[in-house]
Amino acid sequence: MKKYLIALLLVLMPAVVQAAASPYPLDKMKPNLRDQESLQRGMALFVNRCMGCHSMEYQRFARTADDLGLPHDLVEDYLILGEHKINDLMTISMDKGDAAGWFGAPPPDLTLSARLRGTDWLYTYLRSFYRDEARPWGVNNALFADVGMPNVLEDLQGAVVNNCTIDELMERGNRGTLDPLTGNRSGQCMTVQANTGSMNSAEFDRAIYDLVNYMAYVGEPSRLQSERIGTFVLIFLAIFTFVAYLLKREFWRDIH
Ligand code: HEC
Repeated sequence: MKKYLIALLLVLMPAVVQAAASPYPLDKMKPNLRDQESLQRGMALFVNRCMGCHSMEYQRFARTADDLGLPHDLVEDYLILGEHKINDLMTISMDKGDAAGWFGAPPPDLTLSARLRGTDWLYTYLRSFYRDEARPWGVNNALFADVGMPNVLEDLQGAVVNNCTIDELMERGNRGTLDPLTGNRSGQCMTVQANTGSMNSAEFDRAIYDLVNYMAYVGEPSRLQSERIGTFVLIFLAIFTFVAYLLKREFWRDIH
């Protein structure tokens, strides 16, 4: 009995730890691994904006290129920024010890981040940085309090100011309402200062969607393949059942 209880606790542990981590409400996003253009844009954003600090060291450039429908020479010319070759793993050369000194915590490898944190968490985290002069990089994060990561996408999103107390922020989140015509949100705790970012909020949400979609793909690269094979298996089973039924009828005709 005790053994089962411990097993149950271990199974529930990640959920409990995650729930306890921050009360900040998560925004939902549903990955679409069939949307290759979204995955391609997400990869471009990742190698340009994130790979300075974060590796994806269990993933190869070549595999990513093949799965995302990108020609190898294009990836070599535009998406491999360091010394890497197309068949290399997506590693980086930043020393973890140095990084821990600079940021307080080393930037973790992000290959499995979407599996570990979940896509909703990532989607919310990357859209929840705000200006906070008390922090070393001048930014904080509503979901990940006192985060060590600088806001590397501020030039796209713009400078975000938080007008609420932390308690209000945790309770209400930052959804506000979206104006479908202008693509801007209103009634939120966090507001973007005018003319500080190159994207409006709908464009920025879209860019982060692509980025997280790409991270979801890297977390489980064979998922696309298994979904495709799964469809064939179901079609095969349907045809086979029909043939088996015909065969059964044929056999039983003689017996009756
Ligand atoms: C200048 C370096 C730097 C860049 C560039 C950077 N990050 Fe980070 N990131 C960090 C550091 C440092 C941490 C660890 C923060 C901590 O633990 O306090 C971190 C943490 C994270 C985490 C949380 C990991 C976890 O589960 O705890 C995610 C997710 C993340 N970064 C995603 C990104 C993405 C996506 C990009 C590109 C848009 C990016 N980062 C660009 C430095 C960076």
